[in-house]
Amino acid sequence: MHTVQLLQVTDPHLFGDPATELYGVNTADSLRLTLAAALADGPAPDAVLVTGDIGDDMSAEAYAHFRHTLQDSGAPVLCLPGNHDDPALMTRLLNGDGFQYCGHARLGGWGLVLLDTHVPGRPHGRLAAAELERLDVELRALHDVPVLVALHHPPLPVGSAWLDGVGLTNGAAFLDVIDRHSNVRCVLAGHVHQEFDAPRGGVRILATPSTCAQFTPRTERCVMDRRPPGYRWLRLHEDGSLTTRVGWLPRLVGEPRDENATRR
Ligand SMILES: [Fe+2]
Repeated sequence: MHTVQLLQVTDPHLFGDPATELYGVNTADSLRLTLAAALADGPAPDAVLVTGDIGDDMSAEAYAHFRHTLQDSGAPVLCLPGNHDDPALMTRLLNGDGFQYCGHARLGGWGLVLLDTHVPGRPHGRLAAAELERLDVELRALHDVPVLVALHHPPLPVGSAWLDGVGLTNGAAFLDVIDRHSNVRCVLAGHVHQEFDAPRGGVRILATPSTCAQFTPRTERCVMDRRPPGYRWLRLHEDGSLTTRVGWLPRLVGEPRDENATRR
């Protein structure tokens, strides 16, 4: 057993055509640069966790580009879907050969549960009854180890009215399941394109900057932030505690613009 070194990257928003820009950022270049910076800024990861909005245009090619880029990490890649993803394509294209879609995993002395909050055609998230039931079953099976639960939509408001309007619509039901178990230490999300860190009892609720463009925190409407791409390292210790930090690229990739700021 050892301290687990987990690297999270999130919301790369890749396209079938790798020349495509989103919010003024070439998302393929930005993911490549962010992954390289993250790997240079930490130990060899035990796994890379990617918390959704992997593809943006529902194309098989976007997921092929993702596979090609992430396989250089040299670690297993754990994936779950965001609102912009196609869960059926991900199930087909991101399972096997070093990649895993949803389900659960054991890393050292820790358990991970990866959830699907995707609602077809909608920006908000929801956990289907079967997914909430699976969470309960997985947490029971992992009762004797500390657990990190990962999902795209954060289960709590993050303080931006527009973003909280497209959060997890049954966050309370999710937290009810978490509260029935004493082994959950961390809930890790994407979707907010910014750093978020809120303790809730013994559970740390985290979200992480995107590998492309960021949203300005605590705004009524969507406003792009002039912060560079980011990533998060987590160290999951044997005693069930965790330490984490967000890393940022030293400079912007592209020039973030508000042109599609009604998207998320
Ligand atoms: Fe996103």
